[in-house]
Amino acid sequence: MAEKVERLKINYKTLEEFKQFKEYGLQELSMLEDLQANMIENDSDSPFYGIYFGDKLVARMSLYQRDAKYDRYFDPPQTYLELWKLEVLPGYQNRGFGRKLVEFAKSFGLPIKTNARVKSQPFWEKMGFEPVTYDMDRDLGENPLVWYPNGVKEQKVSSDA
Ligand code: COA
Repeated sequence: MAEKVERLKINYKTLEEFKQFKEYGLQELSMLEDLQANMIENDSDSPFYGIYFGDKLVARMSLYQRDAKYDRYFDPPQTYLELWKLEVLPGYQNRGFGRKLVEFAKSFGLPIKTNARVKSQPFWEKMGFEPVTYDMDRDLGENPLVWYPNGVKEQKVSSDA
């Protein structure tokens, strides 16, 4: 597959394309307002990555790096990536675009946390993610899944030397 993952720029064209995605919400609206109010520059980098098929944005995800001090998901706490809003447009699903975005996120070599929508959990498990099993009650209404680089579950820091 020739299509590649690109970091998306914040501009009116990108924001218009985002309207095709079901998970269009406050984050996109506030990016639009910031652009209109000149609070951010046209073509600044966004937290979104996507795949174009020809001229059309057909898949996207949002990726944020979270500092270890805010980590509630990994033991010991570590810097990780939060992946959300992964979505492939109908008509372009099951062609490997979802996998390509997830593999791009994995290539940073950091643990990843995502929040699966009900029906997409089997996809995430296929991508090597596993449900967070501890302290579930703090995440009511969420369905967090995590992935560890190299399948290493607990990266113990050897501080007891
Ligand atoms: N459940 C189980 N496996 C799934 C799946 C799903 N919903 N979607 C894809 N897969 C599998 C594919 O069969 C493929 O397996 P293979 O490598 O053995 O052939 C692998 O996961 C990678 O698939 P890919 O083509 O990269 O998936 P995609 O580009 O369609 O992206 C989603 C997957 C879920 C992100 C995308 O389909 C999407 O945004 N869907 C709309 C919203 C949603 O959550 N739908 C869930 C189904 S109703």
